[in-house]
Amino acid sequence: MKGIILAGGSGSRLYPLTSIVSKQLQPIYNKPMIYYPLSLLMLSGITDILLISTPHDIPHFQKLFAGSEKLGINLSFKIQEQPNGLAEAFILGEEFIGDDDVTMILGDNLFYGNFQVFRDACAAQTKKENGHNARVFAYHVNDPQRYGVVEFDSSTGKAISIEEKPTNPKSNFAIPGLYIFDNTATKRAKEITPSVRGEIEITELIKSYLEEGSLEVHTLNRGLAWLDSGTPSSLLEASAFIGAIEQRQGIKVACLEEIAYRTKLISPEQFKELIETIPKSEYREYLEIILREETL
Ligand code: G1P
Repeated sequence: MKGIILAGGSGSRLYPLTSIVSKQLQPIYNKPMIYYPLSLLMLSGITDILLISTPHDIPHFQKLFAGSEKLGINLSFKIQEQPNGLAEAFILGEEFIGDDDVTMILGDNLFYGNFQVFRDACAAQTKKENGHNARVFAYHVNDPQRYGVVEFDSSTGKAISIEEKPTNPKSNFAIPGLYIFDNTATKRAKEITPSVRGEIEITELIKSYLEEGSLEVHTLNRGLAWLDSGTPSSLLEASAFIGAIEQRQGIKVACLEEIAYRTKLISPEQFKELIETIPKSEYREYLEIILREETL
């Protein structure tokens, strides 16, 4: 399973915050936003990852993740020249995806909770369980108009329609920016006619699987948080949410070095070396405690 993080867009709703620094590099409590989707991929067992972003922002991500091999992951970068739509990621990533399945997460999507559902979905995808070649998720929200929306048949519970930002949503179930596709996603994306706003829409790609009966929609339960980060107030709320959990539990959410170590992507020796590259900070102290406790 390959992984793609798409960190494009102009972030105009966060202006002037985004006039220099892209949305996905804005702080969520104590880390850049992009750490959260990357942590989800790592925790789902995905280590071969392509990060796609704008010509302006790619150098920032390259700088942030210089030395990412020390996290036990293989991160590469690709430029999306124009905002041609989310599904273009599968065209840009054609060579990278090769013969594999691919999970794409949007760089501004933050999840918190038990990620077993994502690990299970990846495993089911690899086995093409129930003849399904694509998987997306459904999450109950109070403002579905802002998202891709999935409608379920009330008697069978099966997904029957998908619409992008509908004025009159047919349900309250939004589709988060986390998609699992087989490698035909590239071919399908190439066949999509751009929408009126000139974008190759992700919902069209999802629909092509739905229409042939090979889409599985996994409903995320209320124990999992999918946070919004698209406006200044939701950015603040997401930071407060993560901050409250970290303060209360004395643990860090989406701490990439800790994840690399705990999921055994790196050895204790490599973890120790990695810590030594981090400036003296509360973040480093946290990692030093983990190293000490684990090797007692
Ligand atoms: C995109 C997708 C939408 C999805 C959302 C999740 O919208 O087009 O279907 O529900 O991401 O974050 P955007 O946030 O780019 O407007």
